[in-house]
Amino acid sequence: MAKTNKTKSKNTKTKKKFYVTTPIYYTNADIHLGGAYTTIAADVLARWNRLQGKEVFFLTGTDEHGQKIQETAEKEGLKPKEFVDKIVKNFKEAFEMLNISNNHFIRTTDKEHEEEVKEVLQYLYDKKFIYKGVYESYYCVGCEQYLTKSDLVDGKCPLHNREPELRKEEAYLFKLSSFQKQLYDLIKSGEYEILPEIRRKEILTFIESGLQDISISRLKEKVSWGVELPFDKKHTCFVWVDAFWNYITGLQEKKVFDKFWPADVQLMAKDIIRVHATIWPALLLATKNKLPKTLFVHGYFTVNGKKMSKSLGNVLSPIDLVKKYGADSVRYFLMRNISFGQDGDVSEKTLIVRHNNELANKLGNLVSRATGLIDDKVNIHVDTSNLVSDVTQLIERFEFDKALATIFAFIDMLNQFVQEKKIWETRNKEDIYELVTGIRTITVLLWPFLPETSEKIAKIFNFKISLEELGKQLKDVKIKKSAILFKKIDVDVSDDLVKTDVSTKNKDSKDNINNLAPKEKIIKPKIPGIINMANVQFSDWQKLELKVGKILDVEDIEGADKLYKMTIDIGKEKRAVCAGIKKFYKKEQLKGKLCVLFVNLEPRVMRGIESQGMILAAVNEDESKVFLIQPDKDIEVGSRVS
Ligand code: MSP
Repeated sequence: MAKTNKTKSKNTKTKKKFYVTTPIYYTNADIHLGGAYTTIAADVLARWNRLQGKEVFFLTGTDEHGQKIQETAEKEGLKPKEFVDKIVKNFKEAFEMLNISNNHFIRTTDKEHEEEVKEVLQYLYDKKFIYKGVYESYYCVGCEQYLTKSDLVDGKCPLHNREPELRKEEAYLFKLSSFQKQLYDLIKSGEYEILPEIRRKEILTFIESGLQDISISRLKEKVSWGVELPFDKKHTCFVWVDAFWNYITGLQEKKVFDKFWPADVQLMAKDIIRVHATIWPALLLATKNKLPKTLFVHGYFTVNGKKMSKSLGNVLSPIDLVKKYGADSVRYFLMRNISFGQDGDVSEKTLIVRHNNELANKLGNLVSRATGLIDDKVNIHVDTSNLVSDVTQLIERFEFDKALATIFAFIDMLNQFVQEKKIWETRNKEDIYELVTGIRTITVLLWPFLPETSEKIAKIFNFKISLEELGKQLKDVKIKKSAILFKKIDVDVSDDLVKTDVSTKNKDSKDNINNLAPKEKIIKPKIPGIINMANVQFSDWQKLELKVGKILDVEDIEGADKLYKMTIDIGKEKRAVCAGIKKFYKKEQLKGKLCVLFVNLEPRVMRGIESQGMILAAVNEDESKVFLIQPDKDIEVGSRVS
């Protein structure tokens, strides 16, 4: 059985290690975008740590036992193993298509895993951490978790909208209660780190309310699809105890347990934090293993405002999305669109808008412009260390969306630089060198997020994807003719049904030098002066989303005398919004007020802060007075303004 080797390694020259895990996913259905989300985030961390020169182990996999899977297989008329084999193929295919760089894919039906789980159970039984009793509790098969009465909403599990079973049966129990104090202290002191802070507090309150011993077995006549208890063959092991052990057996199967345990980061969504922050560390303490260092809990996302579900027909398949838009667009969208750690909403439409506006127009165009400018070898060093250190800090704080926003703000600057300096006319060598250095930096920083695109750009310019190289002189950049990185997608985003034409040529990104000059866009106002309502396109207004928000916090921004940074609650998420109202309101006057804001405008970086919305205000004629538009106090935060 696995035990952390407590003797210090004699080899002091060994590289730093980094071990990251995802939850292992249930195999009762094909993969959906939720599982892809956590796995992409783990991949970003794995790749980032590889860039840092660390030795990385990245584990993901599937959780294949238990009642839910047994029942689904029965319904399909298949044996559980035949059924899960089919689903696992689908998960593996999705991860391959998404360029997930996991070092191992663990399955809880792996023989080695099952044997190790039996050994652990026997050990816990011998040491009297497991005892026989009668267990009575509500159980949701959808969650495969015990629920308390206070978890239920109208008598149902709120996540699966079904009534839980009330179970009372002979079972083996694990002495979770005896770890209550130890767990509380470890989490409180930060030795076992739970992030973000809000989740740590939630868990501390949960532990304080009292941990009960939990059943770790089911009668085999009820759930046969599971690991048999070695000390009582009439029972199978509770699926979670079996599942947790994957984080250890995944390393053992590859013979790298001593090198990589404990895990540096364990990622998961908030649905499974309670079990992960209590049962899992208690099992580790009971077996004298070290605890993982950090558990990071991200939010849950909805699709077009609704929970993803087969019955609603809104389940987004990562495989379908990659086929339509490419792996990097899906990866970029998920990491950019939702603040990691917070809840959010996704839709195919937003994916397309980001693909077109950010990947094709900004990144694709920049690379295409630069390749048209270089007709000579480039050898120069320009310092981009500030950008590198900003992005490093953001990734290390799990702020992936902000890291991408920072990189893309830099891409905007590079595009502006080409534009302002008119490099396509001057062909000024210094300017070209500066531009290429900037592109090299973004290529390296983007690699964890967009590996395929980064590798393509690196090939075009003959760059090495290495953080170390960024400190060195740029050498021998030779341009290979660039292909179009992102084809723009022709789609009517005002339509609810997304009809795409990915094959459309990106007219803006031909790599012909004559196309580098900015195309002057003359926007003729459709409605000059007095508006005839007949001319207003209703679809224009429909695209704008206004919501009721509550101002939670107001902060000054260094060096800005007009702007405030506000944190605004818009119901399902919180937004950072910059607003030029400092002259008109004191901070205390704004805190706690309701407001109305646009919530689907493209974010704008102002004074280094990404503003994710725009609040409405009334302004008098000479702009000497500004009043926040405030809805009635009775309206719920997050309500739509129509
Ligand atoms: N098998 C357990 C985990 C055992 S780990 C020892 C399980 N599986 S699951 O298939 O239900 O996966 C849950 C995880 O999938 C979440 O914690 C999260 O990582 C991911 N997500 C599933 N749907 C999601 C969203 N809608 N939004 C964000 N993450 C989502 O629980």
